Amino acid sequence: LIGGVAGAQVQNMPGGPKVNQLNLHEGVTAISRDIMWLHWLLLTICIVIFIGVFGVMFYSIWAHRKSRGHKAATFHEHLGVEVAWTVIPFIIVIAMALPATKTVVAMKDTSSADLTIKVTGYQWKWGYEYLDGSAAGVKFLSTLSTPRAQIENREPKGEFYLMEVDNHLVVPANKKIRIVLTAADVIHSWMVPDFGVKQDAIPGFLRDTWFNAEKPGIYRGQCAELCGKDHAFMPIVVEVLAQPDYDKWVEDQKKKMAANADDPNKEWTEAELVARGEKVFAANCVACHQANGKGIPGSFPPLDGDKVVLGPKGEQINTVLKGKPGTAMAAFGGQLNDVEIAAVISYTRHAWSNAGKGQDPTVL
Ligand code: CUA
Repeated sequence: LIGGVAGAQVQNMPGGPKVNQLNLHEGVTAISRDIMWLHWLLLTICIVIFIGVFGVMFYSIWAHRKSRGHKAATFHEHLGVEVAWTVIPFIIVIAMALPATKTVVAMKDTSSADLTIKVTGYQWKWGYEYLDGSAAGVKFLSTLSTPRAQIENREPKGEFYLMEVDNHLVVPANKKIRIVLTAADVIHSWMVPDFGVKQDAIPGFLRDTWFNAEKPGIYRGQCAELCGKDHAFMPIVVEVLAQPDYDKWVEDQKKKMAANADDPNKEWTEAELVARGEKVFAANCVACHQANGKGIPGSFPPLDGDKVVLGPKGEQINTVLKGKPGTAMAAFGGQLNDVEIAAVISYTRHAWSNAGKGQDPTVL
């Protein structure tokens, strides 16, 4: 039922199909249909048992309602009854366990995938990296792009809202996609009801799952493990494309990456680094630190009056590379390249320090 409600939440959104649905998603993968079928099988068995057990009970209460004072039957054992209540539940459990086990085994079989994608959960965004196939090397972050104010001030209140992300995860249709999951900070969970997929992303572990989407389209999910303040704002958007469209997307991504790649021999000026750093900051840091660097009031000390205190440059670089234990500050060493790290350090020191007042931005 909870899965069904979550499914209805994903569908009942502006732009999405209007459905009054309390049931599970039928989905677009064989696994999601297996889950649907199992759900009906188990529900049917439960209803039959419920009617059998409670039917006998209520019948007895009703049929013997005038039998007050009757003596209860006293017998010690009854072989027939004992065999029946051992054998019948045994058969029921096997009837449930066989198809369920078959589905679980199929869900865990990530062998001979056509494409492997590494998914990393961050507070609060998803990182996607294509590990093989024509898109090998393509990687990007997928962050909520719908303005928060638009979500929080929506009318009418309580209506489900379609949350968009800047970069969709794009996959080809009718291909076995293996998803390898991990997390950089806390446990997240990658759930897309239409694929029948829900797998935890755990820091320090690799977990994998797979799907084979049969129909091109846009499929939506949501982080399904409470992961902090913005857990509710970690949507998942998967775009399934027909093979030719997917090939074209890969080509575009490669061109885009080549255009954005940093020339290792480039001599960066301070102004260029600051401009580049502003973009890096907007894409990676602003969710927690806010544009002014002060972050959520009270949680981002220290402030010197109204000014953000960054500390010595070496210490700041260390914090960006390795994160800050005991706080929500994650390690960005694996997410950002050297130029991006240099750029974001330059930008923050420029934007929040005394640089604007003619003082050395590196000395605070
Ligand atoms: Cu990530 Cu909840």
